[in-house]
This record gives sequence, structure tokens and C-alpha cells, in this order.
Amino acid sequence: MQDIITVPPIIEARGIVKRFNEGSENELEILHGIDLNVRKGEFVSIVGTSGSGKSTLMNIIGLLDKPTAGSYMLDGVDVCCAGDTELSHIRNSKIGFVFQTYNLIARTSAIKNVELPMLYAGVKAKERRERAMELLELVEMKERINHTPDELSGGQKQRVAIARALVNHPSIILADEPTGALDSATGRKIMDLFHKLHKEQGITIVFITHSPELAKETERILTLKDGEFIDERMGIKYAS
Ligand SMILES: Nc1ncnc2c1ncn2[C@@H]1O[C@H](COP(=O)(O)OP(=O)(O)O)[C@@H](O)[C@H]1O
Ligand SMILES: [Mg+2]
Repeated sequence: MQDIITVPPIIEARGIVKRFNEGSENELEILHGIDLNVRKGEFVSIVGTSGSGKSTLMNIIGLLDKPTAGSYMLDGVDVCCAGDTELSHIRNSKIGFVFQTYNLIARTSAIKNVELPMLYAGVKAKERRERAMELLELVEMKERINHTPDELSGGQKQRVAIARALVNHPSIILADEPTGALDSATGRKIMDLFHKLHKEQGITIVFITHSPELAKETERILTLKDGEFIDERMGIKYAS
């Protein structure tokens, strides 16, 4: 008989509710009780129309924002009760972010952009430089290390942003529409890079996208509609 190996979830969120402007007449409930499990090494995509709550959910998963209600275990740590300093430490060490608009620091070279999260993590200068070089090589940007963001194309900027996301050996990459601002051929190459990171380095990836075609290439597709996950085939709510 074959052994069943259960991989513990790296993301385990239960009943996540997010309300903005709570208590005011502008109060809006955007997430209505999301359950999300992601296993270590999984490549999951989250799809949904604009305004369905994808970025709101990603900000909570990435500890950039707090849920109004619900529980969240990240890599075995209950993060709901952590203070701000602890949250930023967990975020910097466990999560690598990739955004649609790259979010690189202007007038700062590619290599310095990649080194920055290591500076916050207290890594020494020589090691920072070596690690940044190694990652810029991995994303095929070794020839552009001294270029500033305005000297790079969209695809090149996103490669630098992906290198930056990887520097602190994160447990998870959270990518919010990373190909959304790119033409389809460039987006294709960025997607290939995510596949490479997943296959060769076993990185857990949560990939938010507008593109059903790109989502189909991932191991599991979750569809967010009006702040809830739905099963598109059945038209019903379900827990991931
Ligand atoms: N800080 C905020 N205050 C009020 N409403 C917000 C805030 N952030 C997002 N929203 C609202 O939440 C909804 C979902 O937004 P978002 O998560 O950005 O959707 P998506 O990423 O799927 O396009 C939108 O209606 C948006 O206007
Ligand atoms: Mg969004």
C-alpha cells in the first residue's frame, strides 16, 4: 500500500472577512468569509473580474493589511495576533511580492533594488551583493545590473522585481497580476520564469491574474466573485 504523504498547508486562512470604513456610512464588506488553503510547493492561481477582491485578499495573505475577522496561519504561525513589528519581520522573511506595476525604486540601480530587502533583514554588504548577482543571473538580467528602472523595459523591470522578491528565501511568492501591464509575448516569458521557479526551486506561488489562459497553466484555479470563492462549473460557493 502506498503511503499518503500529507503536506501541511503553508497558507491556512479561515473565514476571512474584510470590511472597509467600518462603522461609517461608507462601510463596505469586500470579502465575505474566505477559506484558503495553499500547500507548500503549490502553484495556485486566483482569478476574478476587476473589483472582485483579489488584491484585498492578497494584501491580507501578504500581511500588508489585516482582516476584519477570521483566522490566518502562515507557515505554522498564527499571524492574527502578531504586532506590527513582528508582522513586518514575518513579511520580509516569508513573502516575496510581485506587483503589476513592478514597484521598483526609481533612480536606483537594478542591483540596489534587489539588495534592499536584504538590507532590512540585516544581511552583510558582501553577501547582499553576491545574492543579488546570483538572482539577477537567474532571471537573466545580469547584463543590466547597473540600469535604473526607467532604463529598463516592462518585462525587464518585472524580472528585477522577481529577483527582489526572491532574495530573502521566501516561503511564498505572491504575485498580483504580474503580467497585467505587459504585452502578451513578454507576459508569456514572465510566466515561463514563474514555471521555472516553481519547478526548479519548488517555490510556492499564489498567482493572481486576469488571464484564464495563464491560470490554466497552474496547478489549481480559484475563482473569486464578489468577495467569495465560487466553483465556476457548479456555480456554488466552496472552500478551497
Ligand atoms: N482601502 C479601500 N477602501 C475602500 N474600498 C476599497 C479599498 N480597497 C479596495 N476597495 C474596494 O474593494 C473592492 C475590491 O477591490 P480589489 O481587491 O482591489 O479588487 P481586484 O483586485 O479584484 O480588482 C473594490 O470595490 C474596491 O473599490
Ligand atoms: Mg487587483
